[in-house]
Amino acid sequence: MNSNNILNNVISIDHQKCTGCQRCIPVCPVDNIIIKQKKALPVNESCLLCDHCAATCPEGAIDNPKADDSTLMFNSFELKREWMPPGQFDPAQLAHLMYSRRSCRNFGPKELCAEQLDDLIKFGISAPSGTNSQLWTFTLLNTREKVVALAEVVLAYYQKLNKLAANTLLRKSLSVIGNRELEIYFRDYHESVEDAISRWKGQQEDLLFHGAPAVIVVGNKTHASCPREDPLLATQNILLGAHSLGLGSCLIGFVVEAAKRDKSIAGHLKIPSDERIYSVIALGYSQERYSGLPRRNKPLIRR
Ligand SMILES: Cc1cc2nc3c(=O)[nH]c(=O)nc-3n(C[C@H](O)[C@H](O)[C@H](O)COP(=O)(O)O)c2cc1C
Repeated sequence: MNSNNILNNVISIDHQKCTGCQRCIPVCPVDNIIIKQKKALPVNESCLLCDHCAATCPEGAIDNPKADDSTLMFNSFELKREWMPPGQFDPAQLAHLMYSRRSCRNFGPKELCAEQLDDLIKFGISAPSGTNSQLWTFTLLNTREKVVALAEVVLAYYQKLNKLAANTLLRKSLSVIGNRELEIYFRDYHESVEDAISRWKGQQEDLLFHGAPAVIVVGNKTHASCPREDPLLATQNILLGAHSLGLGSCLIGFVVEAAKRDKSIAGHLKIPSDERIYSVIALGYSQERYSGLPRRNKPLIRR
């Protein structure tokens, strides 16, 4: 790898290897490559480093300074390196996987190993990202103890919020000045959150993480071009990857909401201030069994 490339953030093309076949030209999203003297040549600085050109080059002539080969190495299975053209994967298999994934609310105690969590992240980062920014971050909690510690911080936040929301005067006065958030929270969540807090304290019942022994917190840098979308797309891949690896998963929106308002949650996770949390995925071995697939509501489709 060429260290100048890293500084310049551009690809380099080895002219000893390039045959001038031109396959790299139409796949480049920013018209970065031209042919000069029968060889491919990168010409501008707007390269996204998306690896399209390198992946299309039959000679391996293109070096992408940021592309990391280890991202294609899963621990649980061997990933085939050949690209699969559209139409070559069985759609029935794909739909079966998608419809079989369920939000798990009954995790067993068995913890996940580091290799499983690494593989889940590799599923995640196959997602597209705005301008290929790939600035997503993954914060891992790999033991039940760490999940419980996060639950304590999050539940402390909701305990404070519930106290505020239970104050009728405060609630009403806030809604008068135009912020109805607390009133809506009181109407929709106060009671169930109160119940969850008291069951956590009383019976150590975990209605927040459902007993999960692992969590992946997916974030993104605030300066990413699509800070929200990238981590959410990665998240969906992780959920599907988890099911394929024999694991259950559940998104925990309550933690994302709490982290938006209470900076101590990011602090607890050692997530720096230039990042936001976009999803929290509880993971573990599911103790749930279904005999069929779920049916969805008919979607609203405009034609
Ligand atoms: C953004 C988001 C946040 C969610 N938050 C929670 C949560 O805090 N706790 C929970 O048990 N389930 C949560 N879920 C799971 C949904 O309830 C679940 O996806 C939905 O009921 C459909 O069920 P399925 O995932 O099994 O298909 C969340 C889902 C999404 C998409």
